[in-house]
Amino acid sequence: MDYGIVNGKVYYQDRWVRADIGIKDGEIRVIKKKLDVDVYIDAYNKCVLPGVIDAHVHLRDMNQKHKEDFKTGTLAAAHGGVTTVLDMPNTEPPTTSLDAINQKEELRRDTAVHVEFFGGIKNNLPEIMSMKDKIIGYKIYMDSTPLHVSKPELREIFEFFAKNKINKRISVHVDDSELTKRIGKQKISEIRGIEFISNLSRQFGIKVNICHVSTPEGIKIISQNPNLTCEVTPHHLFLNEENFGFADTNPPLRNQRDIAGLWKNLDQVDIIASDHAPHTMEEKHEGAEGFPGLETTLPLLLNAIVCRRLLPSRLIALISRNPARIFGLTDKGEIKPGYCANLTIVDFHKKYKIRGEDLYTKCGWTPFEGWEGKGAPTHTIVDGRILMKDGVLLD
Ligand code: NCD
Ligand code: ZN
Ligand code: ZN
Ligand code: ZN
Repeated sequence: MDYGIVNGKVYYQDRWVRADIGIKDGEIRVIKKKLDVDVYIDAYNKCVLPGVIDAHVHLRDMNQKHKEDFKTGTLAAAHGGVTTVLDMPNTEPPTTSLDAINQKEELRRDTAVHVEFFGGIKNNLPEIMSMKDKIIGYKIYMDSTPLHVSKPELREIFEFFAKNKINKRISVHVDDSELTKRIGKQKISEIRGIEFISNLSRQFGIKVNICHVSTPEGIKIISQNPNLTCEVTPHHLFLNEENFGFADTNPPLRNQRDIAGLWKNLDQVDIIASDHAPHTMEEKHEGAEGFPGLETTLPLLLNAIVCRRLLPSRLIALISRNPARIFGLTDKGEIKPGYCANLTIVDFHKKYKIRGEDLYTKCGWTPFEGWEGKGAPTHTIVDGRILMKDGVLLD
């Protein structure tokens, strides 16, 4: 063994056990009661989780380096206990071709954590096939962004996926954009968007992941269609439309009743993902939509466990096992011999206070400024390498 993680509580074979983990060559080799090793991390009083996978991250870079780049974004991930990020394609230039993927593969060369890519879909049916083997899934935007896809186009895309038997998951930013144009971003735009996608997914037998669902009504519809999975974000679970001053985020923050509805229906949710969408403070004041979240997701959710709003086993499903299964990351999402040694060690006793100035994201602010709680990651381990220890990034 290269080293062991000893004395911790380990989530193994769907339950908590007190066990030691042996790591060699970037892999988990053994999990057993007592490991005989000279080099070890003492995880006494801590919990060892399969590495956190954030399924919705905007790493930006290229023409938006001023907001975030691959370096700062992945350092932020490591700081937040996140071992794998799935990068969104709405970049400048967008990730809608094989060339664009190749360019991002260059950027990925010296990142701290694992980065996987979504391929964007926008007037590029031929590129869908050429990108396929280099991405973990596709992304479609129904809202009015440069990558906006109309309803007739959506039908063609789903038909194309069915005809070509493409089995990679499509993540969709749902929105009935015509409705939104008329009435603004109300809940009904999201609900109608989900209904539209749900029908298409049934008709063509296509599996879809619905991004950042912000309405309990939306979760209900999704739970009735086995082809659909969904994500919610921490900001939709913790922030309401009133307690935040900035021109917020997309979909917008909702009211207290909807938030309660999200928590109540969390059993039907597959993934919690940050939708880490950094913008500079100046851009926020000009109305840019999106919040940074890579470094706050885990502390907020660990505190929710301490407050008994969430079970630890559910947390692992939401932030690691399910995203791994849904996006086909076959050696991740579980602590198991032969799996990639991506691990997140957490301490439920550790108190924290969130401060923008302590974060590694380039944007340097957070909507959770000043929030306090209990429960924080103490180690981020990627391919067996310890990237973060007690909140400090190591080389
Ligand atoms: C995201 C961004 O800034 O890229 N903004 C947001 O408000 N969530 C785009 C998106 O996820 O829809
Ligand atoms: Zn979105
Ligand atoms: Zn997003
Ligand atoms: Zn690996």
